[in-house]
Amino acid sequence: MDLLRSLNGQIALVTGADSGIGKGVAIAMAHAGAKVVINHVDAHEVAQQTVDEIKANGDEAYAIHADVSNEEDVQAMFAETYARYGTVDILVNNAGLQRDSKFVDMTLEQWNTVININLTGQFLCSREATKEFIRRGVVEGRSKAAGKILCMSSVHQVIPWAGHVNYAASKGGIDMLMKSMAQELAPHKIRVAGICPGAIQTPINKPAWDTPEALSKLLTLIPYSRIGEPEDIAKLAVWLASDEADYITGTSVFIDGGMTLYPGFADNG
Ligand code: BGC
Repeated sequence: MDLLRSLNGQIALVTGADSGIGKGVAIAMAHAGAKVVINHVDAHEVAQQTVDEIKANGDEAYAIHADVSNEEDVQAMFAETYARYGTVDILVNNAGLQRDSKFVDMTLEQWNTVININLTGQFLCSREATKEFIRRGVVEGRSKAAGKILCMSSVHQVIPWAGHVNYAASKGGIDMLMKSMAQELAPHKIRVAGICPGAIQTPINKPAWDTPEALSKLLTLIPYSRIGEPEDIAKLAVWLASDEADYITGTSVFIDGGMTLYPGFADNG
């Protein structure tokens, strides 16, 4: 299996690509030969740093600002992608956030913000990408599929999470969005797959790893006894988007060091 340049000549749009897992995925896809759109909603300079890092490696990237939960922003982002690169082959629905609260105190705003960005954002971006995949179809020598959609989910699509019901609900929703799109779009040769990371060392979960006490508590939940790195997820994303994974659609890969193995039962139960 040769993943080096396995995405050669393809266009990848990665949402939330200015930090954390999205940044890692964008860099890895560029390294695999894709031209990458770095979507971001925060400071442009930060996204531009990722672009510069990719270009310094001799690869190609471009930053586009868009709020994935805003329909007009999403449509404008795809239009700008086509103006610059002509088409799109790979969508990585990665943008996501947490707004944690005890359930009884959770505000409607906290609920809506998380559902809008984590779930509705994946719907809006997938719908735009799908229009282009269907319009263009399979192109010989480019990829066996007409398009690939990767949905960044979480172990919390199956692990309930007290204090984070908005986040867990968004991730459970992503699972059925992903599977239902996969079922509907397979006849168009569009593949859709989910990625379910466990604890990955990124800004979203900094309090869970940035002190030795927090990290050792976190590691009790991870049988493989290490926190994940964005690169762990990035390698999986490149493979799932490549023709090496051409028969994979409608399923999720858990990449969590065993977090979903009910570690509390290892010496109990
Ligand atoms: C969350 C992290 C958390 C991890 C494992 C992720 O989806 O964003 O904050 O550390 O799941 O619980």
